[in-house]
Amino acid sequence: MAAASGLLVRCLLAVAVVSAALVAGAAAGGPLSTRFYSKTCPNVQSIVRAGMASAVAAEKRMGASILRMFFHDCFVNGCDASILLDDTASFTGEKNAGPNANSVRGFEVIDAIKAQVEASCNATVSCADILALAARDAVNLLGGPTWTVYLGRRDALTASQSDANANLPGPGSSLATLISMFGNKGLSARDMTALSGAHTVGQARCSTFRDRIYNDANINATFASLRQQTCPQAGGDAALAPIDVQTAEAFDNAYYHNLMSKQGLFHSDQELFNGGSQDALVKKYSGNAGMFAADFARAMVRMGAISPLAGTQGEVRLNCRKVN
Ligand code: HEM
Ligand SMILES: *[C@@H]1O[C@H](CO)[C@@H](O)[C@H](O)[C@H]1NC(C)=O
Ligand SMILES: *[C@@H]1O[C@H](CO)[C@@H](O)[C@H](O)[C@H]1NC(C)=O
Repeated sequence: MAAASGLLVRCLLAVAVVSAALVAGAAAGGPLSTRFYSKTCPNVQSIVRAGMASAVAAEKRMGASILRMFFHDCFVNGCDASILLDDTASFTGEKNAGPNANSVRGFEVIDAIKAQVEASCNATVSCADILALAARDAVNLLGGPTWTVYLGRRDALTASQSDANANLPGPGSSLATLISMFGNKGLSARDMTALSGAHTVGQARCSTFRDRIYNDANINATFASLRQQTCPQAGGDAALAPIDVQTAEAFDNAYYHNLMSKQGLFHSDQELFNGGSQDALVKKYSGNAGMFAADFARAMVRMGAISPLAGTQGEVRLNCRKVN
């Protein structure tokens, strides 16, 4: 009897654990699901992966550019592919907002993947989901972690330049501003510090870090003079520098080492290790690549779940650049 009830208790516990996991899974993805296209477009994941593999093989930086595009989509009224809409004579979208203009790149890579997805299963997979998958594959192709992407996002019917200007943090942001701007999107300070590790890949224009390398006090002097060589005090706004001084093309945890040696490229980067609340976490990530990889993956799932359009909201665009 005791044995039987012990077994019953264990069964109930097992059921409780499984349903807690299901609830947690649902919460991670909101209304989205991991098997959304398993019947309607079973090949979508391999098509996106192949498209990203060829784009990254042609130019490693493209992995970084697609990852950033996803961030800039999600932070502006949710992950709804609003960033992909082109401006027209009668419509102003997000592409020319301050944080995006002459900066966000890789739209033609998403177009090429979308064309292949349409050829395989037309009018089925949203541009927002293609971007979420492409960003995941970009990270993994550069040597970073992988994760399961929740799917079922629908594409926006509109976009907002003013919201893009208001919701995306700038490189001069303070720690308090970063925490509050991520908090506005339902992301924790820990998510913010993990997601900032994306700056382990990619390039930045001189105009975005000039102030830091000439005017900040908490910068490594050797590093400041290195960057000053290609980013003059006046002019040369578009000159590029790697954001991660050590391994610009590898998705690793070197970003956090850079912060600890005062080699963060943006003022906002160095804010994560400047005597404030995130110092301890930066130290942990710099010493534990696995912990960073796991936290980054979890935070990407959370970022990917920011206010998606679902069900019959929005549409599945046929061409990512314009509404149907
Ligand atoms: C924490 C607040 C953040 C700030 C202030 C910030 C700011 C910037 C700036 C100023 C640039 C250079 C843009 C240019 O040169 O035109 C940049 C590049 C980049 N950002 Fe961020 N960013 C932040 C968070 C993120 C997040 C959360 C991600 C992705 C998860 C991300 C991914 C990237 C990548 C990959 C690049 C390089 C893109 C390329 O090479 O094309 N950033 N960021
Ligand atoms: C999808 O493809 C089918 C078969 O080629 C075609 O009949 C249909 O019109 C297409 N739908 C859209 C929305 O393009
Ligand atoms: C400054 O950066 C150099 C590499 O450029 C590094 O060797 C040195 O340790 C850094 N200094 C400090 C104080 O972290």
